[in-house]
Amino acid sequence: MITNWDSKYETNISEIDSQHKKLFRLINNIEEVYDENKHHLSGKTKILIDAVSELEDYTLSHFLIEERVMELNQYPDLEAHILQHNKFTDKILDLKNRLNQGDLHSSDGLLDVFFKDLIEFLRAWLTNHILKEDMDYKPFIKFSI
Ligand SMILES: [Fe+2]
Repeated sequence: MITNWDSKYETNISEIDSQHKKLFRLINNIEEVYDENKHHLSGKTKILIDAVSELEDYTLSHFLIEERVMELNQYPDLEAHILQHNKFTDKILDLKNRLNQGDLHSSDGLLDVFFKDLIEFLRAWLTNHILKEDMDYKPFIKFSI
């Protein structure tokens, strides 16, 4: 099930909203790659890892920009917000390391469970994070970058 953008996710900071939209697209892309290959996942690990890496790279640069915007606006809960970003970054790294392990690589069944869990986790994390932590900073932002 593809995650669609909705106005409830808007921070009204155009740069941040366009980055969040791209994060939705990158998660949907992982799901599309998974769906297209779900009957022979073990032969498609490269394209699957590439899709996860693309999300990981973009997420890291997005977090840095979001943290700069919060810092620039002296957001009082900046430290707690950065902690949430760091926890997510650690989790993505863990998942990517797990994906690179041999036992997972060669098993269609294990890869299937892994990707179902991964996609569900990513979708839940991103939507919950935007609706809670990102909405919390929204009233404090007067300047963007
Ligand atoms: Fe955030």
